[in-house]
Amino acid sequence: EKIYVGVDVGGTAIKVGICNPDGQLLHTYEGPTEASKGTDTILQNIAKYAQQIVVESDYEWEQVDGVGVGIAGFLDIPNGIVKFAPNLKIENVNLKAYLEQELNKTVKVNNDANVAALGEAWGGAGRGIAHCVCYTLGTGVGGGIIIDGKIVEGYAGMAGELGHMSIVPDLEAIQCGCGKMGCLETVSSATGIIRMAKDAVERGDRTSLSQVENIMAKDVLDAAKAGDEVATRIVNRAAFYLGKSMAMIAIVLNPQYFIIGGGVSKAGDFLFDQIREVFEKYTQDQAKENVKIVAATLGNDAGVVGAAGLILRG
Ligand code: BGC
Ligand code: NA
Ligand code: ZN
Repeated sequence: EKIYVGVDVGGTAIKVGICNPDGQLLHTYEGPTEASKGTDTILQNIAKYAQQIVVESDYEWEQVDGVGVGIAGFLDIPNGIVKFAPNLKIENVNLKAYLEQELNKTVKVNNDANVAALGEAWGGAGRGIAHCVCYTLGTGVGGGIIIDGKIVEGYAGMAGELGHMSIVPDLEAIQCGCGKMGCLETVSSATGIIRMAKDAVERGDRTSLSQVENIMAKDVLDAAKAGDEVATRIVNRAAFYLGKSMAMIAIVLNPQYFIIGGGVSKAGDFLFDQIREVFEKYTQDQAKENVKIVAATLGNDAGVVGAAGLILRG
């Protein structure tokens, strides 16, 4: 039987998975990206983990029909080139050519959030919904736009880079990893939430977070849930710009679902209700009719399932 390998390359971890011809995920494996060690290490890790999972789950390399890869960065999708990855520090690398050479298989490359969106559309929260826009809230803020059941890549592959919508007003903006000011990612990613919390602690704001040794996004969300004022302000801010960006997207694309995944989304309705409130406030009635903001359901697996699907579903 043929198998399909999916790879999801994020800032922290590389996840790999094997799907059968029905698109069912049979095995998964996860290893560190080791982004700080540079481009060569990242590339080698991708190739290594893809081969490793096939061997370790007792398949023959001959059974592999192709390898689909989702990677966090600005891409030339048709050519499989990573032009720039703000959180991986990769620039102008032909990932498709490298992997085809290394693995001797057909390789398709797409954006990590795009493939997560495809995964959710095929078998997750977006099943049966033709028009949906997905956000992933993790190291960065990823986006995936599905219209008429198809991912929107744009002319070269930059469509759906929602994390880099410049949305924070200049007076409050800081520089993003991409080099521009005021991107959504600077306030609504896990990294952004952590940065705002650390800034507050350093400033000497009164907050329970000053007791936390190595602040994670979850600590900030938990503190906000417990009523900490500083944490509440930070989470409000993250939610505000997410909701506002959705209001803008609603009037541009009129999707039916906004699907939110990634680590930060685990905060659940506590976060979602704040986003919904802002979305309600700024979106025209006609653009929000029957529109829902829902949680992703495939969790960590959306990326690998969607990536394998690049091969499996063509
Ligand atoms: C990158 C996107 C990616 C997202 C989530 C952003 O910084 O520009 O390509 O989808 O992070 O990983
Ligand atoms: Na994207
Ligand atoms: Zn940016």
